[in-house]
Amino acid sequence: MGKRSKALGMLAAACLTVGMAGCGNDGGSGSGGLDVGIVLPTKDETRWVQDETRFQEALADSDYSTEILFSQGSSAKEKENVETLISKGMDVLIIAPHDGAAAGAAVEAAKDEGIPVISYDRLITDTDALDYYVTFDSVAVGEAQGQYLVDNAEGDGIPLYLYAGAASDNNAFLFFEGAWKALQPKIADGTFVIANSSAAEGLKDKAELDRQEIGSIVGQLTTNWDPNEAKNKAETHLTSAGPDLKGDVSVLAPNDGTARAISDVFASDGAVTSYTITGQDADMASIQYIIDGKQTMTVFKDVRTLVEDAMGMAVDIIDGNTPETTATYDNGSMEVKAKQTDVIVVDQDNVKAELIDSGYYEASDFTGLE
Ligand code: BGC
Repeated sequence: MGKRSKALGMLAAACLTVGMAGCGNDGGSGSGGLDVGIVLPTKDETRWVQDETRFQEALADSDYSTEILFSQGSSAKEKENVETLISKGMDVLIIAPHDGAAAGAAVEAAKDEGIPVISYDRLITDTDALDYYVTFDSVAVGEAQGQYLVDNAEGDGIPLYLYAGAASDNNAFLFFEGAWKALQPKIADGTFVIANSSAAEGLKDKAELDRQEIGSIVGQLTTNWDPNEAKNKAETHLTSAGPDLKGDVSVLAPNDGTARAISDVFASDGAVTSYTITGQDADMASIQYIIDGKQTMTVFKDVRTLVEDAMGMAVDIIDGNTPETTATYDNGSMEVKAKQTDVIVVDQDNVKAELIDSGYYEASDFTGLE
C-alpha cells in the first residue's frame, strides 16, 4: 500500500461536521480541538459543492475531526471562517481562496497561531504564510481546452470567441496561459480569427505572454466565474458581431458554469450555424449538455483525487511526516511545494467510460445516455 493510501486508510471511523461545531470525537492526534479545518469559496458554484460532497464521502469513516465552512464569495467571510476554525483549535487548514491575494490576511492569521496551511485548487498569492498546495495541472486544463478547439477546427478564418475566469483567481491566468499555448499558432496561421478581444488581437503574434499581458486579456474577457456575467458578455459580443464573425464558430469557455450560459446565447443566435465550446469541472448539468450536444467538451478534474491528496497531506502533517510533493509554484512571495494531478478531456465519445463506468456519477443522473 502506498504511503498516501495508507494515510487515508487511517481516516477510519468518521466525525465530519459541516458548518457547525465539531461532533466531539477527536480521534486524531491533535491538541484536543479540531484536526482539519476546510474553507471553500462558495456554495453558489457546483464545483465547490462537489468538493464538499467528496470531502464528506472521503471522511465518512475517518478518525479525524473536520469542519467545512463556505466563504460565499467574500474575503471578509473567509477570514472570519479561518478565525472561527482557529478558535476551535484546528491543527491544519485546507483552504481554496475566494480571492487569491486577499486570502493572504486569512492564512497569515492561521500561520501566526502556528497552524500549517494547505492551499487547495487555487493558489494563495503574495504571502509566505503557506506550506503546501494541492492542485490539478491548471496549465494543462487550459491547454486541453485550446487543443480541443484546434483539433476540431475545419478550414480557416473560423471566428474564435474567448472567455476567461476571474482575475482574482490565479487559476484563470494558468488556464488562459495553457489555452493560448495551443491556440496562438492557429491564430497566427489564420485558422482562427479572434472575434471579441482587442487585447488578444494586439498580442496575437506572441507565442508566450507574460502575466501582465494575460491580465490585459483576462481583464477584457472575464466572466468573474459568474454565469450571468458570461451570458451578458456573450450577448454583447454577438450583438456587435457582423455576419463574418458568425457561421461555424469556436468558443473558449473557461469552465462548465460559464460554458452553459455562453452556449445558451450562441444556440439562440440564428446566424451561428454551429459552435464548438469548451468547459471544465464535469458539472452534472454540463454532462447532460454534452450528451445533448449543447456543450462540446469538458475537462474532468477528479475531485476525489484532490480531496485524497489534501487530506493525505493534512494527516502527514499531523503525524509529523513530510508530505510528498511533485512540483513547485511561485506565488509571488515564495516557491510553494505542490502536489499536482492530471486531468482528462471528456466529450460525447468517452463521457460514459470516464464518468459513469468509473463510478464518478450514476447513469440514472442523466437522460439520453447510450
Ligand atoms: C477552479 C475551477 C472552477 C473555477 C470557478 C477555479 O479556480 O479550478 O474548477 O470552475 O475556479 O469556481
